[in-house]
Amino acid sequence: DEVPSVKGIPFIQKIHNVEAIEKMYDEFEVRDKDVIIMTYPKSGTHWMIDIISLIYSNGDPSWIKSVPAWKRFPWIEMKNGFELIKNKEDPRFLTSHLPVHLFPKSYFSSKAKMIYIARNPRDVIVSYYHFINPFALDSSWSAFENFFESFLRGNVVYGSWFDHIKGWLSMRNSEKFLFLTYEELHQDLKVSVEKICRFLRKKLSEEEISSVLENASFQVMEKHRLENNESIEYLRRNQVVLMRKGICGEWKNYFTVAQMETFNKLYQEKMEGLDQDLFPWNQC
Ligand code: A3P
Repeated sequence: DEVPSVKGIPFIQKIHNVEAIEKMYDEFEVRDKDVIIMTYPKSGTHWMIDIISLIYSNGDPSWIKSVPAWKRFPWIEMKNGFELIKNKEDPRFLTSHLPVHLFPKSYFSSKAKMIYIARNPRDVIVSYYHFINPFALDSSWSAFENFFESFLRGNVVYGSWFDHIKGWLSMRNSEKFLFLTYEELHQDLKVSVEKICRFLRKKLSEEEISSVLENASFQVMEKHRLENNESIEYLRRNQVVLMRKGICGEWKNYFTVAQMETFNKLYQEKMEGLDQDLFPWNQC
């Protein structure tokens, strides 16, 4: 099968609304009250979806327990998201993994708020490797070294990690854009949640914040996933694991010394000139 792509970015025919992605760039109307989660895949998207769901419900997890993430925060570029979004009332909660050059252009002139989560690309490779295997566009991806090579070339679904982060970082001085990292959430979830509350102008009591933290823990989230039927039939059938380990530094169990060196060299080349303090993963 031919792999469909839009402006150089590969997608998956079965799950993406490939025909609509290019049209959406011009036609999709982002509203001022929209709250958008933007990530490269496997960077903590579902974690952020649950955190923001909890912030808007003042820490009450019942919404999470009864509605799967893809219905609470539909992905604008997915087949199952498109219809849902049309009928939503403000404030709409949206998710996307699109690179900046494919994201609806109306966002840039709107007041919509966007939270971007970035994760150590080394851990993203490992998480993505486990996630993508069942979808494999390329059967050679069942071997880690092949997926690793494709990832470095940007020849994977949603394209290059480097282009994604560099593209979106151009927004970082905008007050409607919040840049956070997976590693930061790990290090101090409370501080991050408070930052997100300020950004979204939501005032929560100490008790409500505690409930957000409790319900956004890995273990409790896993439990909710089973209750709300997040592991939808399709994912289950294909053995897609949405939550594997949820740790920092798992790449060390996968990369060979040679792969580590190759990766570091490319990383330095691609990330040169960016403020390295933005990326706490360089310590882990
Ligand atoms: P691993 O595959 O390394 O376990 P996304 O939601 O963007 O697909 O990202 C999935 C990754 O986020 C998975 O990483 C998953 O375990 C991790 N994750 C999800 N919820 C988490 C939580 N509450 N705490 C830590 N990691 C979490």
